[in-house]
Amino acid sequence: MDGTRVEEFEPPVIVRVARTMDDMQRIAVVRALVYMSEQDCPYDEEFDGNDLAGATHLLAEAGGEPLACLRVRWFADFAKIERVCVRNGHRSGRVARQMMQDAIDLIRRKGYRKFVGHVQEHLIPYWKRYGFIHREHRGVFVFSDRAYAEMEGRPDPHPKALHIDTDPLILDRPEGDWDKPGPLDKSVTRGASPLQGREPGRGAKSAPAKKQTETAK
Ligand SMILES: CC(C)(COP(=O)(O)OP(=O)(O)OC[C@H]1O[C@@H](n2cnc3c(N)ncnc32)[C@H](O)[C@@H]1OP(=O)(O)O)[C@@H](O)C(=O)NCCC(=O)NCCS
Repeated sequence: MDGTRVEEFEPPVIVRVARTMDDMQRIAVVRALVYMSEQDCPYDEEFDGNDLAGATHLLAEAGGEPLACLRVRWFADFAKIERVCVRNGHRSGRVARQMMQDAIDLIRRKGYRKFVGHVQEHLIPYWKRYGFIHREHRGVFVFSDRAYAEMEGRPDPHPKALHIDTDPLILDRPEGDWDKPGPLDKSVTRGASPLQGREPGRGAKSAPAKKQTETAK
């Protein structure tokens, strides 16, 4: 041994926004292992129709191996953190902590001042560690064979929170990557096309199509 700490040999945990179908497949595997296998959740309840409609997913990996994930759904004035899970064998701090911190930062950066989570009742003390407040007046409710409580987070405003007057090119960057140039930033140097408003389909080039229709009559 040369005195190097064991953690220094471990690949870093990288948390990123899911952008591709491959990312979604990695997420589906983690959720199937944790919720379907460990917690006996039926497929249709785990994959409930909300994964591709209005959700952002975070995926945590180390050395390219998917370890954990969560999803955030966006409502008018609050975000909802859901499906938080870490593969068995990778629990106890490092992965979950980083992923949750990144999720809360993402929520703040998008300008949200409130988030909620439906958490398994026995984990209320655990979620309090992330600043969630138990909404006791909402009681306990049951789904997928488990009792849940509602918890709320009220984070500080993000100093660079996105808003309607944020630079348009920043708003157009890929979700979560607002601090570095995105694909559209590069396109700016091309300027506006002189053909704008006169592209095929709007001007002279649409005429033949009309003629064909008339001939068909
Ligand atoms: C919840 C979860 C994401 C936390 O991951 P983690 O931060 O790596 O932490 P751990 O799994 O080590 O658990 C953290 C704490 O919660 C407790 N905990 C976790 N699962 C628990 C369970 N089923 N019953 C009781 N306590 C539990 C642990 O004892 C631990 O407490 P401690 O720090 O005082 O020892 C992870 O346990 C997980 O993926 N669980 C399965 C999926 C799930 O239930 N998600 C939460 C839905 S609300």
